[in-house]
Amino acid sequence: MSAVLITGATSGIGQQLALDYAKRGWRVIACGRNKESLAKLDEAYPNIETCEFDITDRVQTFNALRSLSLTPDLWLLNAGNCEYIDNGEMDSKLVERVFQTNVFGLTNIIEAIEPHLVSGHRVAVVSSIASELALPRAEAYGASKAAVGYIARSLRLDWRERGVEVSTIFPGFVDTPLTAKNTFPMPMLISVEQASEAIQKGLDKGQANIYFPKRFTWILRILGLLPYSWQHAVTGLLFRS
Ligand SMILES: NC(=O)c1ccc[n+]([C@@H]2O[C@H](COP(=O)([O-])OP(=O)(O)OC[C@H]3O[C@@H](n4cnc5c(N)ncnc54)[C@H](OP(=O)(O)O)[C@@H]3O)[C@@H](O)[C@H]2O)c1
Repeated sequence: MSAVLITGATSGIGQQLALDYAKRGWRVIACGRNKESLAKLDEAYPNIETCEFDITDRVQTFNALRSLSLTPDLWLLNAGNCEYIDNGEMDSKLVERVFQTNVFGLTNIIEAIEPHLVSGHRVAVVSSIASELALPRAEAYGASKAAVGYIARSLRLDWRERGVEVSTIFPGFVDTPLTAKNTFPMPMLISVEQASEAIQKGLDKGQANIYFPKRFTWILRILGLLPYSWQHAVTGLLFRS
């Protein structure tokens, strides 16, 4: 039986992925901090077990991953946080919080799982399509997800010889508690069920880069190829807060 470890499984995309993989008969290790959500996942399926830790706490992360009851063959590193910079007023504490979770939390986990990785394993890292071009108010979030994408693509090169595959996931807008606080229109917003299906399909096919929803992410990727001055003109119009 295949096994998957999912971080950020207590809410949104990660929670849907945990339920969907369990439905498919995979053994699931669902990770997060929220005790209530973890307990609900534990009860939902006999093949889900839970693991509580804060990814920004290096010691907690290492202890939790040292004591796993099974070795997953898929490691889905999805936990993340989003905060926006308002009115272009830099807030270094906010930037630090976002990077603490999205970048340093991620590297904590990567370091902690590394001893478990063997040939045939896949590590999937959730970045964002926001990493592909500069968007308004995304000085912290977009930059953190650009770092996430870079880390994943570098690891893909470094782990190839060990037979460990790395996939990077680039979602567009998905309806979750993270986006519920957005006050701007979110073009081509999709549900967590659709997001989970796109991620599973991409991973089943062994894709290195998984973009969804297709049309929206293609538009942003093409915009990302334009000269910066053209990008700024278009994104300024499309993503007014
Ligand atoms: N929704 C979108 O439109 C969208 C688009 C692009 C990319 N993404 C990315 O997709 C991923 C999931 O997002 P989502 O929309 O599903 O968000 P969400 O519903 O807010 O879920 C975020 C998850 O991350 C976990 N998490 C956050 N900080 C953590 C920490 N310090 N330690 C451990 N777990 C932590 C949360 O668990 P606890 O609170 O239990 O700790 C929660 O399960 C994120 O990386 C996000 O950046 C989302």
